[in-house]
Amino acid sequence: MEIVILPNSQEIGRLGGGVFADLVTAKPDAVLGLATGSSPLAIYDNLVARHQAGEVSFAQARAFTLDEYVGLPADHPERYRSVIEKDFTGRVDFAPDSVQGPNGLAEDLRAAGAEYDAAIAAAGGVDLQILGIGTDGHIGFNEPGSSLASRTRIKTLTHQTRLDNARFFDNDLDAVPVHCLTQGLGTIMEARHILLVATGQGKAEAVHHLVEGAVSAMWPGTILQHHPHVTVLLDEAAASRLQLAAYYRQTYASKPAWQGL
Ligand code: F6R
Repeated sequence: MEIVILPNSQEIGRLGGGVFADLVTAKPDAVLGLATGSSPLAIYDNLVARHQAGEVSFAQARAFTLDEYVGLPADHPERYRSVIEKDFTGRVDFAPDSVQGPNGLAEDLRAAGAEYDAAIAAAGGVDLQILGIGTDGHIGFNEPGSSLASRTRIKTLTHQTRLDNARFFDNDLDAVPVHCLTQGLGTIMEARHILLVATGQGKAEAVHHLVEGAVSAMWPGTILQHHPHVTVLLDEAAASRLQLAAYYRQTYASKPAWQGL
């Protein structure tokens, strides 16, 4: 796990955007794993700017989102399928039908989960997955207690996650769905490169556990300690509880240029 501590979101966007741009330049038909929420926005904005400057195209790429609320009507603005289009995919040149998400309106949610994992596998697997992390340590919507080997399936959101996400629903907690369909931890772990972004003091405890805690279903993101290629982009506040912060800074500052991210 590589830890990169950066001064602000703009730098996170620049560095993270560079990782995506390098990938789709080298492999135009790359399979991208996309997250919703606030954490990836600086990277998406950076990629939109690169696209508008003619530096990068997603015309041949495909994308899979991490998760979806169960039961939100198809035209609801907070449905993740709509959110990712507004925040990123609709602002660049993805081809029609090249962006997929779990079907939170499926009658058979169990089958929808299995079909989603099969679709990712049929596409050749995810080359680069962007992740945020919840204040309770979730990645995707794999809440504490999730199986570390889980596949795409229904999960119940914790009260904390619903509180955290109420800001997207006019601060109306009752409007935040209780269930979601999320890629499992086992599904996420199959991505070839994982880029996790966390900003703000509210993420400091989760980031401490993610990087320096014991691997445990109580802090689901800790499963990433078993992944061979994870890059964690943090601002100062999110990094504020890291015990080895000085070492991570020194390591990144003295990193050989040929290593890349
Ligand atoms: C979103 C997702 C979640 C978020 C996490 C952090 O698709 O899977 O794990 O990444 O809840 O949310 P933000 O970035 O809004 O703090």
